[in-house]
Amino acid sequence: MSKPFKLKVSTTAQGTSLMRAISYYEKNPFYKGEDFIASAILPSFLAKMAKYNFSRTTLKKALFKVPGIYEYVISRTHFIDEIFKSDLSGIEQILIFGAGFDSRAIRFEKELKYIKIFEIDAPPTQQAKISRFAEKNIDFPANIEFVSFDLTQEGLGEKLEEAGFRKHRRCLILLEGLTYYLPQETIFSIFDFICNCTAEESQVIFDYAFGLADNRIPGNEKNYQSLVNAGESPGFVLEGEIQDFLKTYNFEIIEELDSVKLAKRYFNIEDFEQAAQKFRLVNAVKKN
Ligand SMILES: C[S@@+](CC[C@H](N)C(=O)[O-])C[C@H]1O[C@@H](n2cnc3c(N)ncnc32)[C@H](O)[C@@H]1O
Repeated sequence: MSKPFKLKVSTTAQGTSLMRAISYYEKNPFYKGEDFIASAILPSFLAKMAKYNFSRTTLKKALFKVPGIYEYVISRTHFIDEIFKSDLSGIEQILIFGAGFDSRAIRFEKELKYIKIFEIDAPPTQQAKISRFAEKNIDFPANIEFVSFDLTQEGLGEKLEEAGFRKHRRCLILLEGLTYYLPQETIFSIFDFICNCTAEESQVIFDYAFGLADNRIPGNEKNYQSLVNAGESPGFVLEGEIQDFLKTYNFEIIEELDSVKLAKRYFNIEDFEQAAQKFRLVNAVKKN
């Protein structure tokens, strides 16, 4: 078990939400995002800047200093949104680990109407999300449960069951922008839980970092100490093959996208810039 979470709202969750918000205002169709909720919770001065080409460019230059990361996050959002819009019949529960300011429960309210959704995040970030949405009069749907939990601590299963999670049902599990902030042993125990508590044909979507010498994820080298202080110490980096990792937990890959595939699919370019080349996005299914 690691040290419990510090009482701070996640800077990385605010950062990815900000990227989706700015992307919502883009005119270039490759950059254009659909997250109208991220844009609605944007402070008004940022929204004003994001609206116009000139000020948006200035804003992006000032905020997104790591080459390729904005494009990576936008394409990751597109990829996951497509799965949420696809036919999810048979899925009974959705677990969103490290949800941050994820707005899919609202944006896809119609598609997810009959599915129970559990958003798991550290208490300060989850509380900030609930308050910010309330300030903007954005209602959450009735099928969402917030589970405030520090994933580095023990007791995930009990906490989820208290919130109404039912074991051995078909689930869709999302860990977006999360694995590389959690220690290796936490990732193993989350995947143990997923393996033992969900039914066959459950699906897991996550991204991971690979091939990093000192676990300093691209873009966060400068902020390394502040992340550590905030309890978001850089952690899991895949060593070995993803197929072998997933096989341990009875999952098989449906699709894996590295930066080259993401860049081609969503931006029609050969690759993202260097920092974004260290991540891969996976959609996998459980086979018992
Ligand atoms: C980069 S953000 C991603 C947020 C969201 N999934 C997205 O893509 O916008 C990482 C999220 O993981 C959460 N997180 C990091 N460490 C955690 C922990 N130990 N327990 C629970 N949540 C954690 C943070 O609070 C934050 O919301």
